[in-house]
Amino acid sequence: MSYEIFCGDSVKILPQITTKVDLTFMDPPFNQQKAYTLHNDDMPPEQYWDMMKDVCRNIYDLTNEGGCLYFMQREKNTESVLRVMRETGWEFQNLIIWKKRTSAVPMKGKYGKQYQIIVYAAKGGRAKTFNRLRINPEPPSNYKFKRKNGIFVTDVWDDVRELTSGYFAGNEALRNKAGERFHKQQAPLALLLRIILTSTRVGDVVLDPFSGTGTTAVVALQTRRNSILVEIDPENIACIKSRLGNVRDADIIQRYYQDYTCTENLPEIWGGDFVGWR
Ligand SMILES: C[S@@+](CC[C@H](N)C(=O)[O-])C[C@H]1O[C@@H](n2cnc3c(N)ncnc32)[C@H](O)[C@@H]1O
Repeated sequence: MSYEIFCGDSVKILPQITTKVDLTFMDPPFNQQKAYTLHNDDMPPEQYWDMMKDVCRNIYDLTNEGGCLYFMQREKNTESVLRVMRETGWEFQNLIIWKKRTSAVPMKGKYGKQYQIIVYAAKGGRAKTFNRLRINPEPPSNYKFKRKNGIFVTDVWDDVRELTSGYFAGNEALRNKAGERFHKQQAPLALLLRIILTSTRVGDVVLDPFSGTGTTAVVALQTRRNSILVEIDPENIACIKSRLGNVRDADIIQRYYQDYTCTENLPEIWGGDFVGWR
């Protein structure tokens, strides 16, 4: 399987890409004044959403018919995400609630925040690939019957643990020599795994236009999907190359296989045993 890495601004790079893609995972900076080296995370809202629109339109043009886009954002921006996707041709499928395990943020005068949204949309009515994954979470304590074969994954994802700040982020979080998080927005492998297994087949092409530490490619490679990554910061590009070149135990996804064993055709969806890194 191949991966291609572009260093630069997605707004400029995407129109130059000629390979057609089947799935895009979009996890851009949220314009919430975070310290990015080469990105202004404090744009006037109109400018920020114009940029998101430009990116969504370019992804649409690059996507095969029936391909899809997962756009992750803060819950307060749901309306803008839906508008931008609709105006660039994407057809809405689901509003996924990614419920955080530990990082609820208290708010003054309103309910605390405990989830992020991921809008899932397709090019042309319906997605050409939608593998219905089954999981088997602990049943509620008052549940009377034993489940025989798990349950289908729904649009509320409360079983994917976020990489929180500090020690609790665990081994999966990349760290610098001082032990600090290398990239505070690194996404969990389990999140990308669910998206890639659901929405692609072996051999498909996955695009990540704001790829950070390259989590998308780490999962794509192990599930035999191809990937295209764009990232503006050369330090992150170096991190991606090192992450893909010198694999860490914490990046091996095989440990998640057991979560999905109730899924029909799982070996085929998963892509068999990945032999490249072991
Ligand atoms: C929220 S982070 C993505 C984290 C990623 N999902 C991961 O697992 O590591 C957004 C990334 O987009 C990058 N970025 C910001 N503006 C960009 C642009 N115009 N083009 C490409 N990348 C950009 C940032 O440097 C940052 O690494």
